Amino acid sequence: MTNKILLIEDDDRLRRILQLVLLDAEYDVQTAADGQEGIDKWQQWQPQAVLTDLKMEPVDGLAVLNFGKNYDAQTPIIILTAFGTVETAVLAMKDGAFDYLTKPVDNLELLEIVAEALDSRQLLTEDKKELIGSSAIMLKIQQNIKRFAPTDSSVLISGESGTGKELAARGIHQASQHPEGPFIRVNCAAIPHELMESELFGHIQGAFTGATTDREGAFSRADGGTIFLDEIGDLPLQLQPKLLHAVEEKTITPVGSSQTKQINVKILSATNQDLKKMLAQKTFREDLYYRLNTVHIHMPPLRQRDGDLFLVIDHFLHMFGKKFTKPQIMLTPESLELLHAFTWPGNIREVKNVIERAVLSCEGRKINPEHLPSALQISKQIDRRKPVSISTDLHNREKQLITTVLKDCNWNQSEASRALSITRNTLRYRIKKYGISKK
Ligand SMILES: Nc1ncnc2c1ncn2[C@@H]1O[C@H](COP(=O)(O)OP(=O)(O)OP(=O)(O)O)[C@@H](O)[C@H]1O
Ligand SMILES: [Mg+2]
Repeated sequence: MTNKILLIEDDDRLRRILQLVLLDAEYDVQTAADGQEGIDKWQQWQPQAVLTDLKMEPVDGLAVLNFGKNYDAQTPIIILTAFGTVETAVLAMKDGAFDYLTKPVDNLELLEIVAEALDSRQLLTEDKKELIGSSAIMLKIQQNIKRFAPTDSSVLISGESGTGKELAARGIHQASQHPEGPFIRVNCAAIPHELMESELFGHIQGAFTGATTDREGAFSRADGGTIFLDEIGDLPLQLQPKLLHAVEEKTITPVGSSQTKQINVKILSATNQDLKKMLAQKTFREDLYYRLNTVHIHMPPLRQRDGDLFLVIDHFLHMFGKKFTKPQIMLTPESLELLHAFTWPGNIREVKNVIERAVLSCEGRKINPEHLPSALQISKQIDRRKPVSISTDLHNREKQLITTVLKDCNWNQSEASRALSITRNTLRYRIKKYGISKK
């Protein structure tokens, strides 16, 4: 698949030159002449990387960066900057930009940075793709995703923070009838209440002060694909009837318009709030709740997913080992024990952060307890329920898991490593280590 690069630059000449350089390198390129046009194209076209100038009128590169962080943090943004604004570019990097290029742009440097940015995205999205886990509860969830994704039913995904609700939503889209269609995420918690209606349904020029042009809303942009209403518990009460109407009738009316538009979207929503409680408090409408909740998927906290912690740790060790070029990285038994004893209130996201920091901070190949946050050490001291020989217990369970999966896969190692989400090398290493054999 050709990589799609969005180029946002107000200088016509430079825009054309850069476009040619990128086209020459066989990228698929679309361009925009200011920040707003860029943001609109981003949503319509879903590029894999974005190059943006900083100083543009009326909407500048920092606004593009801000938009991107909320909309799709996986897509790297490269800043183009004139000599005088390098400091702003450096600030932009702190704010999450991938890198910056100074003008006049060196073509080779441009291609190098774009390639690097795409690589980094690849790494990040690799981890975005699949829900790791082989606990009974996760297998059931994966089954349900396969079963309900291709239907028209709305799906509500609940669960604590960091349990993979967004990942599950993306999985549902991938398994839906229109995986090639758009996947539009709306973060209901991040958008000011007064802008929410326009964000969802769009507006026409002059609908309110500041509405200088027509704007498409999330529902229209998601037409032919999936809309993901994240943090749905934060949707303002007064907007809920309009959303209910959109969900029931599959039609929308932009703010200020009298024309309705038919839309064909799969509707997913997610929340870590207790919607049932909100129903009782009348802060969430019951009719809307039942509409969104045709199918309910609950992402369990990590502490209830027997055995999944290993797989998740292993997955992130590999991912960050690769990312920070420390492929041989491993955990000492003491570290593994600490990770196992912890209860992970921040769930998978927390495991990911802890492993990332550990891989980054350790100098050699081994992650020692000192590379782990102190919260883990404390939890170990106060946790008296755990048996002393956790690591032996851990190894037994891991051995058991690997053996079961191998049997399921008829001892085909490629298949088993895929099912376990570990590399073949790791699988081979474990088979040897535990002395697992067909007999
Ligand atoms: N089962 C899983 N396998 C691999 N990675 C996972 C899994 N679940 C979550 N992650 C990773 O953990 C991080 C958090 O996941 P996600 O954003 O889907 O959580 P969430 O439930 O939406 O959290 P929040 O309520 O805070 O928004 C992401 O980086 C995601 O890729
Ligand atoms: Mg989320």
